[in-house]
Amino acid sequence: MEVVICGSAGEMAELAADVVEAVLIGKPEAVLGLATGSSPLVLYDELVSRCLDARLSFGRAKAFALDEYIGLPPDHPERYRAVIEREIASRVDFAPGAVRCPDGNAVRVLQACVDYEADILSSGGVDLQILGIGTDGHLGFNEPGSSLASRTRVKTLTRQTRRDNARFFGGDVDTVPRHVITQGLATISQARHLLLLASGSAKAEAVHHLVEGAVSARWPAAVLQHHPHVTVLLDEAAASALQLAGYYRETYANKPTWQGL
Ligand code: GLP
Repeated sequence: MEVVICGSAGEMAELAADVVEAVLIGKPEAVLGLATGSSPLVLYDELVSRCLDARLSFGRAKAFALDEYIGLPPDHPERYRAVIEREIASRVDFAPGAVRCPDGNAVRVLQACVDYEADILSSGGVDLQILGIGTDGHLGFNEPGSSLASRTRVKTLTRQTRRDNARFFGGDVDTVPRHVITQGLATISQARHLLLLASGSAKAEAVHHLVEGAVSARWPAAVLQHHPHVTVLLDEAAASALQLAGYYRETYANKPTWQGL
């Protein structure tokens, strides 16, 4: 796991976009994993600007979203299908139908989960998964207690996550759905490269457990310690509880120039 403590949101966006750009240049038909939430927005803005400058194209790429709320009306602006469309998919040159999301309104929701797994598999698997992290250490919507071997399935959100996400629902925690579909921790871990972005002091405890804690379902993101290629981009506040922050800084500052993220 490589931890990079960034001096600014701009630096974080540049580094993350460099990773996406390298993947798309090396493999234009790459499969990307897209996350919602505030954390990846700086990256998405940077990708849009590089796309407008014709530095990169998503024209042959595919993408899968991590998760989705269950039961929001089809025209609800906070459905993750709508968020992904608004924040990234409609702003770059993905081909029609290239971006998939779990179906939170499926009549046969369990089958929808199985089908989503099958779609990811038949696309060849995710080359680069973009991730944020919840204040309780969730990845996607894999809340504490999630099996480290879990696959796409239905989960119940913690009160803490519903409170955190209430800002997208007019501040009213009771209107945040209780149930979601999320890729499982094993599904996420199958992506070839994982790129996690976190900013702000509210993430500091979760980031500490992700990077330096014991691997357990109590802090689900710690499962990434088992993955051979994880890049964690943090701002100073999100890095503030790391015990080995000095070492991560020294390592990155002395990184050989030939070695990308
Ligand atoms: C949501 C999403 C996660 C995201 C997390 C953090 O619950 N399901 O994928 O990582 O929130 O969001 P934010 O980046 O807004 O803090």
